[in-house]
Amino acid sequence: MSGRATYEYGGETAIVTGSTSGIGYGIASALADANADVVVNARTASDVEETAADLDALGDGTVIGVAADLSRRDEIDRLIDRAVSEVGPISILVNNAAVWPEEESMIDASLDDWERTMNVNVRAQYYASKQIARHMITRDIAGSIVNVTSQTGDRRTGGRGLYGASKTAVNGFTWRMAYDLAREGIRMNAVSTDVTDSRQLRREAGRIAADRPGQTTDDVLEEWGAKRPLGRLGRPEDIADAVLFLCSDAASYVAGSILRVSGGGNLQ
Ligand SMILES: NC(=O)c1ccc[n+]([C@@H]2O[C@H](COP(=O)([O-])OP(=O)(O)OC[C@H]3O[C@@H](n4cnc5c(N)ncnc54)[C@H](OP(=O)(O)O)[C@@H]3O)[C@@H](O)[C@H]2O)c1
Repeated sequence: MSGRATYEYGGETAIVTGSTSGIGYGIASALADANADVVVNARTASDVEETAADLDALGDGTVIGVAADLSRRDEIDRLIDRAVSEVGPISILVNNAAVWPEEESMIDASLDDWERTMNVNVRAQYYASKQIARHMITRDIAGSIVNVTSQTGDRRTGGRGLYGASKTAVNGFTWRMAYDLAREGIRMNAVSTDVTDSRQLRREAGRIAADRPGQTTDDVLEEWGAKRPLGRLGRPEDIADAVLFLCSDAASYVAGSILRVSGGGNLQ
């Protein structure tokens, strides 16, 4: 490995959605560790409080938690209002929260599944970005927005049709909104990943292990990691490193990019 990067985010304030677990937790911890003020979010209030307290101990910044269900527009407004009034102004938004519908086929999936998936995975990312962009523009903040997307959004076949379609939509709105934002001095980019260790991935691996006598969740995860060209599963820190790069001055000329952080899974 050549080169080494360290980041300093003192004086910056970040909202990280879906940050009590997995990738979001990794991103929020890395930002807190780099001295940013951080707003932790998820639906489960007890997890939000616990995570905020844990991360508050990391760096020099303040970490608060706001429980909010991002499938609802009024909850996104409340999350942003609380963030701005308690630790704002906001210079970083990481749109990370997502749901993974379990349909086997897009023919059988219900419209309710479609709406739930699109509301959290796409509409919430777009609406939060719109609101934060307005906040940044009126305060002349040259901020950064990062959307978390998935390799599934690049694929045209395979399982998880609704989830894949939602992530393809995230890629599309990242390109289009990044252009409008760049003209206001705000940079929007995305990080796309594949199999990264998280609560949801473990749940899926556990389901598969249950059908394979003698195999554990860790066996399945190891098998998935070994299939990536770089030979291992993603870690939340891998995605956090990409977010810290994209929000930093090292990426000041980067807008509308989808950075693939998936151990080469994007090549398969
Ligand atoms: N892990 C992977 O292999 C992988 C691969 C590709 C892309 N991704 C993407 O990475 C991101 C994070 O996934 P993850 O695997 O780290 O998931 P995870 O461990 O299951 O965490 C999801 C987080 O989002 C929160 N959340 C879920 N629904 C929410 C809602 N409606 N409003 C607010 N918060 C909500 C969850 O908390 P509550 O349940 O308490 O709300 C939790 O904090 C997602 O965008 C996902 O699509 C992950």
